[in-house]
Amino acid sequence: MAEQHRVAVVTGGASGIGEATARRFAESGANVIIGDVDSTRGERLAAELEHKGQKATYYHVDLASDEAVATFADAVAAEHGAPNVLVNSGGLLQNAVHLLEMDMAEFDRLWQVNVRGTLLASRAFGQAMCAARHGSIVNLCSLTSFRASAQVGYAVGKAGLKMLTEIMAADFGPKGVRVNAVAPGYTLTPAMQARIEKGERDPDVVIRGSALRRFVAPSEVADAIFFLCSPQAAAITGVTMPIDCGWLAMTAYNAYASQP
Ligand SMILES: NC(=O)c1ccc[n+]([C@@H]2O[C@H](COP(=O)([O-])OP(=O)(O)OC[C@H]3O[C@@H](n4cnc5c(N)ncnc54)[C@H](O)[C@@H]3O)[C@@H](O)[C@H]2O)c1
Repeated sequence: MAEQHRVAVVTGGASGIGEATARRFAESGANVIIGDVDSTRGERLAAELEHKGQKATYYHVDLASDEAVATFADAVAAEHGAPNVLVNSGGLLQNAVHLLEMDMAEFDRLWQVNVRGTLLASRAFGQAMCAARHGSIVNLCSLTSFRASAQVGYAVGKAGLKMLTEIMAADFGPKGVRVNAVAPGYTLTPAMQARIEKGERDPDVVIRGSALRRFVAPSEVADAIFFLCSPQAAAITGVTMPIDCGWLAMTAYNAYASQP
């Protein structure tokens, strides 16, 4: 087992992309730390992985709370030592909304969990990683890190996270810690599935808008995250990698008016 996969912390690890990532690291032999607000799903996943002979522990943490994140990082350090991997997958989605109609409380909540929560966890675990002079952090960006979207609060936050990834890479790089992000396209997670079922996302539009004519699977994002934390990615830091079935390319291609 690669040294950098010894202890892998995954926030939002109870569901969706975080869950797939926790499974991917556990399969590789890593000791996986699942941090989430959803104790039912988190405990069930940790128990399932342990039952299979893999190593996983669930911790309840609310990324919106400075105190909770500090307590989480301290508990992990005391019980498992400095992590080799931190994946910041805890987060909230948003539906399309007009600027003039958006509830500012929703904007604040998205910022607090998606951006501030990522920064809090990265500072809390990054301290031990920088002191140990090794480690890899992966943030969860989005297609809205690259393109305008009517998910106003979500998109502003994800664009900010792309910048935060670059800032963290520059700051932590000399201390031996790499920081990258993935930008998943439309990924069939429980959060996305629930929105499709409520009519808040049209799957046909997503499929037509993607070069590969399909959704991304959570395990495909997990594989990319796993790669970014591996020795094969040792020279990669500060990048935001789209995992989008070609949605970014296709939307630009389709924008040319006389396209057949
Ligand atoms: N699904 C997609 O299409 C998609 C696309 C691009 C980016 N993303 C990003 O990937 C990440 C994961 O999304 P997902 O689709 O897997 O969603 P999900 O809802 O399936 O999983 C998110 C997890 O984060 C946890 N969480 C939410 N708020 C939290 C908090 N305050 N503290 C701790 N944990 C919290 C949830 O309990 C859940 O387990 C998010 O950052 C999302 O923005 C998702």
